[in-house]
Amino acid sequence: MTFENSQIADVAEKLTERLKTLEVKADILRSVELKALFDELKTLPPEQRASFGKELNQLKNELQRQAEESQAQAEALPPIDVTAPFDVNTAAPALLSSETGSVHPLMREREIILDIFYRMGFMASESREIDDDYHMFGALNFPEGHPARDDYDTFMTSQADANGKRFIAPAHTSTMQNRLLKKYAANLEQGEPIAVVVPDRVFRNEDLDARHEHTFYQLEGIYVGKGVHAGMLIATLKNFLQEYYGKELDVKTQPFYFPFTEPSFEFALSCPFCDKKGCNVCSQSGWIELLGCGMIHPNVLREAGINPEEYTGFAWGCGIDRLVMMKYGIEDVRHFESARLDFLRQFA
Ligand code: DAH
Repeated sequence: MTFENSQIADVAEKLTERLKTLEVKADILRSVELKALFDELKTLPPEQRASFGKELNQLKNELQRQAEESQAQAEALPPIDVTAPFDVNTAAPALLSSETGSVHPLMREREIILDIFYRMGFMASESREIDDDYHMFGALNFPEGHPARDDYDTFMTSQADANGKRFIAPAHTSTMQNRLLKKYAANLEQGEPIAVVVPDRVFRNEDLDARHEHTFYQLEGIYVGKGVHAGMLIATLKNFLQEYYGKELDVKTQPFYFPFTEPSFEFALSCPFCDKKGCNVCSQSGWIELLGCGMIHPNVLREAGINPEEYTGFAWGCGIDRLVMMKYGIEDVRHFESARLDFLRQFA
């Protein structure tokens, strides 16, 4: 845009340059130079005023147009490159080739464990990483304020559910029992059992050491049908363990207490390392206490809408990390979450 009046032309050039540096582009219309020209207009003799006024208005309109246009440009975000895996402004990181990585040993063993249970007719289901008080305790026959709740010390959110109870990072996979019993209750009417395992992550507020980790995996199992009894529980677990360790094993149970089973057992297997002779793994006892199990408490079945007079079932909960540690002679549970490549590479 050109101006005949040299004064206006000078200001036009100057302000067009300045516009580029302004953050709020419209400020250009309040510049002292522009204001000075308008002040001057008022002082001009009438014969000059018309042409000066016309050019000055043209300048003002032009600056306004430029200000709007460049403001819009300045505010527009750079287009997103959806294919870029990193900030396009930084140097590309060297990507690790997929051959460098490997499946985490726990995940690989989880598949092997699941495969054994699939062959026994079980289905698998996932757990949750945040759950509520009802599924952690209430649905599992832990009365309000019962001391057994203290055995499951885990982490809670500051947010609470509709009943004012804080959400919970589940301390066991048993939180899924009520949901799965309800979900598959229709199996029973069709003469089919409910047979589900839950291999998933749980959390505990532990003092960490070689045997205790705040985050670990459990394998929950539930089996419900007509005439299901404790002998079937023991046979199922024995079969699973013999398959997993690839050898004949002895197993034994002793009475225990869980609110959600009656009777409840602690389940032990003969040490797969020394065949009951006694070694470091079994603390010279020849036996390894492995998991908790029992016959599902009638209240737990009832809470899920299943008639305990008609159907019975068993359940167990077993630490997967522990199973894997025993299989490979891993001495410290903390290796699993340590992200130490020298540990992980042994299983690659
Ligand atoms: N939830 C228990 C725990 O983490 C383990 C357990 C015991 C699970 C008995 C069960 C069961 O399903 O029947 O300590």
